[in-house]
Amino acid sequence: MPTSAGHSFSYRKLFDVVAPHYEARIIRAFGPYAASLVEWAAPQPHETFLDIGTGTGIAARLAAAHARQVIGLDFSAPMLQATQPAPHLAFVQGDAHRLPFAANSFDGVLASFGFNATRPQKSLKECYRVLKPGGRSVFQEWGGLHPLDQLVGEVVAPYTVEDDEAPSELIALRDFLDDDRVWHEDLQVEEDYQEFLAELGFINISAREFAPLKLRLSVEDFIDYKTAWTSQLYEFAAMSPTVQRACLAELENRLYRHADEDGILTYDPLMFRVMAYRAG
Ligand SMILES: C[S@@+](CC[C@H](N)C(=O)[O-])C[C@H]1O[C@@H](n2cnc3c(N)ncnc32)[C@H](O)[C@@H]1O
Repeated sequence: MPTSAGHSFSYRKLFDVVAPHYEARIIRAFGPYAASLVEWAAPQPHETFLDIGTGTGIAARLAAAHARQVIGLDFSAPMLQATQPAPHLAFVQGDAHRLPFAANSFDGVLASFGFNATRPQKSLKECYRVLKPGGRSVFQEWGGLHPLDQLVGEVVAPYTVEDDEAPSELIALRDFLDDDRVWHEDLQVEEDYQEFLAELGFINISAREFAPLKLRLSVEDFIDYKTAWTSQLYEFAAMSPTVQRACLAELENRLYRHADEDGILTYDPLMFRVMAYRAG
């Protein structure tokens, strides 16, 4: 809903804003997860893959090193502008709710955190439609909140500006994030994934919530990654420089208590890892 000043937020805008610094600030955390998902999906030299919500194309690029052809799809033009060319790899702008591909097109569909801004009734149905019979969908989405993610939210909250002082675009963003949590409402535990995918016709479904990797990130890099997302960019931009500095100093101080003697944090968030097949 647009605000009185005409501002509105959409999922696409959330990602458009992040795109210019995604490779520099987000990939340090997302890259290892994409690599480990692609390893699990094990694309083969005769196979074609689609990577939904490809972003700057990290999983697609890794898959293209093994597969015959990979297409990375994203609805954010700025994300696609940040992709790099590679052999066997193409990018397409499109919406996961209406995939611009014929039925039975792909041996595999990947999504590394590419679905959580979509409505699963539509996006997972589309995923099934474009898979060839016997093809596999392999994706990951966030599980329960990690203590370090929770800490960042708790530290930043008291420093954020009140609604009556916030710019209208920040209000629009807050309203949007409060109201629109579609994916997580439907898919909260492993059984939800099992049931949801089975209803769409998927078979041999494996859905597991666990922490597949322990990332080691410096406190500075972790803060840089966490504050790179649109909501934090907007919250920090609305603070005065003095408040911003105080907030970052407290964040650093609190995170150092969780770091080792070299200032390195161990970050091992839970996620759902899912593999499911289209009936042959
Ligand atoms: C969290 S990023 C993940 C990007 C990439 N897969 C990675 O691992 O770095 C989610 C991506 O999904 C895209 N996305 C979200 N909703 C989408 C939709 N409905 N259709 C197409 N892309 C979408 C966003 O633009 C964004 O690039």
